Amino acid sequence: MIETVTTTPYTDQKMGTAGLRKKTAIAMQPHYIENFLQSIFNTIPSLETKSFLVGGDGRYFNNIAIQKIIKIAAANKVKKLYIAQNGLVSTPAGSCIILKNKLDGGLILTASHNPGGKNGDFGLKYSTSTGGQCQPHESQAILEQTLKITEYKISNATDFDLSQIGIFHCEETEIEIIDPYTDYIETMRNIFDFNKLHALLTSNFRFVFDAMNGVTGPYGKKIFEEILGAPEGSVLNATPKEDFGGLHPDPNLIYAKSLVDLMYSDNAPDFAAANDGDGDRNMILGSHFFVSPSDSFAILTDNYKIIPAYKDGIYGVAKSAATSMAVKRVADKLKIGFYEVPTGWKYFINLMDSKRITFCGEESFGTGATHIREKDGIWAILFWLSIIATTNKSVKQIALDHWQKYGRSYYLRNDYEGIAQEIADKLMSDLENRLPELTNKRFGNFTVSSAHPFIYNDPVDNSSTKNGLIVHFTDGSRIVYRLSGTGTNGATLRVYIERYVTDKLLEESNEILQELSKVSQEISHVCTLTGKQQPDIIT
Ligand code: G1P
Ligand code: ZN
Repeated sequence: MIETVTTTPYTDQKMGTAGLRKKTAIAMQPHYIENFLQSIFNTIPSLETKSFLVGGDGRYFNNIAIQKIIKIAAANKVKKLYIAQNGLVSTPAGSCIILKNKLDGGLILTASHNPGGKNGDFGLKYSTSTGGQCQPHESQAILEQTLKITEYKISNATDFDLSQIGIFHCEETEIEIIDPYTDYIETMRNIFDFNKLHALLTSNFRFVFDAMNGVTGPYGKKIFEEILGAPEGSVLNATPKEDFGGLHPDPNLIYAKSLVDLMYSDNAPDFAAANDGDGDRNMILGSHFFVSPSDSFAILTDNYKIIPAYKDGIYGVAKSAATSMAVKRVADKLKIGFYEVPTGWKYFINLMDSKRITFCGEESFGTGATHIREKDGIWAILFWLSIIATTNKSVKQIALDHWQKYGRSYYLRNDYEGIAQEIADKLMSDLENRLPELTNKRFGNFTVSSAHPFIYNDPVDNSSTKNGLIVHFTDGSRIVYRLSGTGTNGATLRVYIERYVTDKLLEESNEILQELSKVSQEISHVCTLTGKQQPDIIT
């Protein structure tokens, strides 16, 4: 039986950098997810011919939301849903499944690296047949639906068992519970030399992978331990938990602290990596060494020939504007295309689909390639392991050699969190108005060469996006300012600070960037406007 339920709009269902992301309690309000799902379906023509993947990172409310998706999709006469077994699929594996099976899209339940649980965050990403998140014009159409919705359709079927692989029906809609691992593992096998990686992980090389109680635990167990032979126990925090075991599942120096402590201890393994809650972010560490994501991306690009899938050449690379310029120097040397896009993986999709790029990366611990349309944590780890297996060098040596060849972009991101939205908006608009006056102005040892909003004109669909403000200095240093689009608690100002040097390669980023950090405060008036004297988080 299909019911039509009368509803009223919620006015806060605008998607951010990566889908809809809300406090769990907000997402659990009556009709909230239902309204949003119906709004998505309202924008998709011919649902009776369409198939979608459904799954998530396992956070609190994941499986309740999946039951709702099944019943609303069925009531809207969707042809078929592929549901990940137990409701668990990593974001990269989800993209892989959509592409490999030529699905029309997916509904992926995740708030990525944000904490989970009743008091944490919940999220929903809508992917299209590209395998990646919907484009801005599509999210705009969905937003418009959310603002005028008056009813949604839902089947009154009882809940379904998601634990057994198999096929059943809800109303006319076919529901297939699928294994969420096979397609992804197959794809990794086709990219990397698994024999070489097996030899490395069964040697005396010491490897750990921290899944942070997120969805990549089972993927890591299968790939690193079962297939590549790493000793049992190499995968830490391997069981997906609704609240990530209380962890903030964001793989960085602050939130993956126990892993970082291990890697800076006397007993440090040779290599460690961590993924975020939904498995698209990665952090790479060597013994007593941290690889910044911008450097990691540049190093992977410089070593593309090592990987069987890329040995015949790569098209080009793209980074978000906020990411350091390290990869540009590699692209210039390799004479391949280089693109700079706004923050958010969706902006890479057109460049990938039009074969302008093969690799893409963001400073926020994201790297990936054209095998899928999301960033991919495990892919990045397998890439790093392949470089180590081929060169026999340590992580630190690989990074040092890179800096010696190209120079080093020291890089930090300063986050000012929990700012009142009006203040954050004022800070950005006042700063934007002041940008023209900054040119040629001197701040300590730094002189501004130009300052402007970052505007991206997509070469494929000709859309134009403004995202953040950039200040360039005469010595090549840069400061980028932008507001986060993934937070659920007030506004977060992100300030990205970068300085390029060719001598002093082994200094502390904090030292090298101390003065520029101060300059970033002076230019933005952040301290006076927010009352904060320091950033809340420095990564
Ligand atoms: C953050 C990151 C961005 C990433 C996004 C989703 O978005 O900065 O690079 O694509 O998470 O993982 P933000 O909160 O800055 O809008
Ligand atoms: Zn994520």
